[in-house]
Amino acid sequence: MTPRPILHGILALPLILSFDLCAAARQMTVFKTPTCGCCGKWVEHARANGFQVTVRQVENTAAYRRRYGVPDALQSCHTAIVEGYAIEGHGPAAEMLRLLKTRPKAKGLAVPGMPLGSPGMEGPRRQPYSVLLFDAEGRTSVYQKYLRD
Ligand code: CU
Ligand code: CU
Repeated sequence: MTPRPILHGILALPLILSFDLCAAARQMTVFKTPTCGCCGKWVEHARANGFQVTVRQVENTAAYRRRYGVPDALQSCHTAIVEGYAIEGHGPAAEMLRLLKTRPKAKGLAVPGMPLGSPGMEGPRRQPYSVLLFDAEGRTSVYQKYLRD
């Protein structure tokens, strides 16, 4: 008899608990078209920052954008859902985490279009862009600005 198995059991318990809490807090579903390369890169960005992402390949993301209340004017290449919020386009993980922490009364965040230099759109060129917060009435406000360096 060695005490080892008991020790392992005790050490593993807090790890399992904290892992479960994280996973439960950051479940995300992404609706994208099968051919969207920058969408795939954005999913990698979300996963690298602790989001548990389920990817749904769809023919047309517009239907999901409308279902989750994203105004057409804010459209981008994919729509994500996390804890009841919609995330349209190439939103940085830092802003999604702030959204989930502060939980403002809003529908979600959007980065309209596909600005160069945003997560999943990395490359030699960068454009300034804004992350917008939008509500159920389609009103928007600037949540965070990302400037060219
Ligand atoms: Cu894109
Ligand atoms: Cu995309």
